[in-house]
Amino acid sequence: MSQPALRVRSLDLSDPATFVENDIHEFWREVRAEYPVYWHEATDRNPGFWVVSRYADIQSLYQDPSLSSARGNVLDVVLRGDDSAGGSMLAVTDAPHHRKLRSLMFRAFTPRVLGKVVEQVKERTTELVSTVIGRDAFDFAADVAEQIPMNTICDLLSIPFADRAQLLKWNKMALSSGEADSTELDALSARNEIVFYFMELAQERRDKPGDDVISMLATSTVEGRSLEVDEIAVNCYSLILGGDETSRISAICAVLALIENPEQWRALQAGEVSLDSAVEEVIRWATPGIHLARTAAQDLEIRGSKVRRGDIVTLWNVSANNDEAVFDEPRRFTLSRSPNKHLSFGHGPHYCLGAFLGRAELRALLDALAAAVGRMELRGTPSPIYSNFLTGYETLPVHFARR
Ligand code: HEM
Repeated sequence: MSQPALRVRSLDLSDPATFVENDIHEFWREVRAEYPVYWHEATDRNPGFWVVSRYADIQSLYQDPSLSSARGNVLDVVLRGDDSAGGSMLAVTDAPHHRKLRSLMFRAFTPRVLGKVVEQVKERTTELVSTVIGRDAFDFAADVAEQIPMNTICDLLSIPFADRAQLLKWNKMALSSGEADSTELDALSARNEIVFYFMELAQERRDKPGDDVISMLATSTVEGRSLEVDEIAVNCYSLILGGDETSRISAICAVLALIENPEQWRALQAGEVSLDSAVEEVIRWATPGIHLARTAAQDLEIRGSKVRRGDIVTLWNVSANNDEAVFDEPRRFTLSRSPNKHLSFGHGPHYCLGAFLGRAELRALLDALAAAVGRMELRGTPSPIYSNFLTGYETLPVHFARR
């Protein structure tokens, strides 16, 4: 394998600044064409890792059992060492335990079981949208997008209404370790509070089960034994980790993309594109999680490159979702795009467990917007997320006129 050109080597993919300071799509175009699999050199802070950028390679590696998730599935975590939830939280567990845990959790995620939760999502979203229409300016991120995913997950877990504000507060603290007024320690203690909260709830529901995900986990067995309360708790927390920010970012991205592409907004309002295909394009366009990380459990070869056991391998969904070998004019936001087999939900054994719910949330949003909103305008500059894993915006100042 040839050494990548200096301008490719000089972009540090472990540094959040890289993703706000560069035209990252231009970078990936060059990488896909010239260096589809390359070794990202170590820096003074981090060890090196493999970078895989073509759709076909990424799709096949997601199914390759020689790549493990048990040390973590996000670059920052695997660079630092092991994921403390490895082997007990679904996303960072390998087969065969993963398969058994997943089939248990999947019971709570079938469209039939989720019917009631989806109805609540529709009602909540329509109500939220109706409250912001006509306001001079508001932050769509805080006033609408942020309100949907956590409440949906709370519905799914039957979190008592009295506890929700506290849980939302902890979750905000857990997410804001990079911000000026909070520390890494605050974030860590908030994460611990969430896990303790779920442990207590797991114990209560084991004694007095209902028809929610926690009760189901608390009363089932995997490989002949009941799950420990801490295993139940991390898997409940994993629904927040997996389903909160990803859905929120996608909703924010949807509104911004519709403002930037008024002809697509008109087509949606006029019912000229199906909601289902619109949802898929929004999720491809957003690609909230730009990469996933794995660790080689044995030596393997990727497109002629020799990967050694223990090496970190990163799979860049953001590049796969814009691979011109698969998507026609990938940098055009086209709500009617078909086929649209994006990798935003991953692929293979760890394919997103909440995909149906994530789609339902966006569907409810697009439906509510198309039904009630006329003109949408930006009223300020959105602030970008600072991360090497998530992409999108934290704030979105806008005005919605009544239809
Ligand atoms: C897994 C993305 C919504 C729960 C994943 C993975 C991706 C993803 C890429 C694969 C991780 C890997 O292979 O290592 C998204 C996106 C969403 C979304 C883009 C919204 C647009 C949700 C929701 C929930 C959820 C709403 C739950 C309420 C999970 C869980 C896993 C997962 C539990 C682990 C599955 C496993 O390892 O078997 N998600 N997700 N996600 N997601 Fe989502």
